[in-house]
Amino acid sequence: MNVLEAINRRKSVRDYLDYEIDEKDVKSIVDSGGKAPKAGSFQITVVTNKELLNKINNYTIEGMKNSGNDFFAEKANTPGYNPLYSAPLVIFFSAPDENVFGALTVSAAAENAILAATALGYGTCYLVSPTFAFQTSAKDELIKELQLPHSFNPICAISIGKEGENNITNPQEEIDNVNFVK
Ligand SMILES: Cc1cc2nc3c(=O)[nH]c(=O)nc-3n(C[C@H](O)[C@H](O)[C@H](O)COP(=O)(O)O)c2cc1C
Repeated sequence: MNVLEAINRRKSVRDYLDYEIDEKDVKSIVDSGGKAPKAGSFQITVVTNKELLNKINNYTIEGMKNSGNDFFAEKANTPGYNPLYSAPLVIFFSAPDENVFGALTVSAAAENAILAATALGYGTCYLVSPTFAFQTSAKDELIKELQLPHSFNPICAISIGKEGENNITNPQEEIDNVNFVK
């Protein structure tokens, strides 16, 4: 699949099969993330440990409920809501506080990884919700478990896995926000 086909095929996947991703594919996906344009340091953390993913999932719900943001609180209160969607693999993208371009850099890396995963036949979802887990009392514990370098904080994540039968794909939208200046 070429890059244009991957871009056109990619849609967020929020239901995954319990399927272990081939290590060779994981390497291709993270290498693609690492090859994105970058400014300053950042960290890519691949997590397959179910216990840790479950813990981050639960603290994300807690963080969203206490966020003071009605949209996130309402979502977190939806019965059965799992912000990590029980994906077998979640990649966290983190940057140090002092990198003013940290968010931009990790976004580029995450999208590269998303497109690589799509090309390899996996479903993905770009996630910011897990950052709420790091706004709870468990922040230090979770950062330690992710083995992040000093002062690094997760900025976004992507869930990756084989698409489950219950996934609901958003319809493709018309691209109507482009203007040309000639
Ligand atoms: C900055 C950003 C944060 C996002 N965070 C989440 C998230 O936390 N959870 C989620 O399910 N989707 C998240 N998404 C995915 C969007 O909801 C999704 O891309 C959008 O609805 C368009 O649908 P599509 O990806 O299927 O084309 C995020 C997307 C972006 C760009």
